[in-house]
Amino acid sequence: MVQQSETKSRGRKLPYDDWMEATGLPVYRGHFVEDLRVVELGWWEERGCKAAFLNLKGMEGVSEGRVQEIAPSGELPKLRMAIGELIYVLSGQGLCTVWLDDDRPPRTFEWNARSLFHIPRHSTYQLSNARGDAPARLLHYNYLPIALSAIPDPEFLINNHTYHRGDAQSLDEAFSKAVEVSDATANVRIGVYWLGNFFPDLGAWDKLAPYRGRGAGGSAVYMRFPGGEMGAHMSVFDAGLYKKAHRHGPGRVIVIPKGEGYSLLWRQGPDEEKIVCPWHEASVFVPPEDWYHQHFNVGTTDARYLALGSLTQFAQKGETVYEKSIRQIEYPNEDSWVRERFEEEVAKRGGRSLMPDEAYVDPEFEWNYGDDA
Ligand SMILES: [Fe+2]
Repeated sequence: MVQQSETKSRGRKLPYDDWMEATGLPVYRGHFVEDLRVVELGWWEERGCKAAFLNLKGMEGVSEGRVQEIAPSGELPKLRMAIGELIYVLSGQGLCTVWLDDDRPPRTFEWNARSLFHIPRHSTYQLSNARGDAPARLLHYNYLPIALSAIPDPEFLINNHTYHRGDAQSLDEAFSKAVEVSDATANVRIGVYWLGNFFPDLGAWDKLAPYRGRGAGGSAVYMRFPGGEMGAHMSVFDAGLYKKAHRHGPGRVIVIPKGEGYSLLWRQGPDEEKIVCPWHEASVFVPPEDWYHQHFNVGTTDARYLALGSLTQFAQKGETVYEKSIRQIEYPNEDSWVRERFEEEVAKRGGRSLMPDEAYVDPEFEWNYGDDA
């Protein structure tokens, strides 16, 4: 018979939480971390590096974020996971070698600050720092919390060499250049995504398509990864503008490749408190499930935010549960404080809002994207 006390003591704790906490590494909670390049890390003997976990509200139980640092000229031990992993480079320059299976030679590629790459599940990879004068920091993202709830055996999911995926050969081209794929179902606002395992510099990536309907004249790139279930997208919008508030499912980690601004996060309700997440390059924040969030560019250049995730069952959640009028707040319907704060913040930096007056009157207002849109 199961002891009642055992069941109770487990409470709401997840297998992932037990695993994460057993490492003894720092865990960052709350809503945001302003600069992952300087956040304090602890030593992780097993992985041979300094590291910390992100367990921000909105990730809890869904996605893993961990920051790892590779010492100058350092090389980390090989790692193999039964689930796919996305890696975004916060700073530094290095190499990644991937063994898709045991029968063929590995692939090696070079990464730099703001690169994004995908490690296919059941492949072994090894990271090294190409520079001798500076550490490199990377943000790793995956769905380990969900995987560990389904199979609460870390040794099954991590460094398990007994299973070899049968379709590894189909990934032979996975690390060649990303290709554009037209797919009307990919995202109704864009209709195109980029398929590849390596995106060299998201601070400079210019293959963008208009992202109509979310405001600020924004553009975006949607990314998919060969043989993987995860997705990612990056939105880009100009200085002096801000996007419309919207909400959706959990687990998406947003990291900033470029720009200066802030995002508001709030839960709908009578006592809603709007949480301000200030951001610049290498900031991170996570909109909790069903919370509204809204992005503001108060800098002097375009701003870029990269959303890591999410699995299909979470990506569409808001879209299927709510009417558009509930999942997104049009400018004319927003709290006047939102506009006032933005105008103040831009003015503090010597700029001014470039939001058209018409946007605050006409809920159907759309930016002009020019001839190529
Ligand atoms: Fe969002």
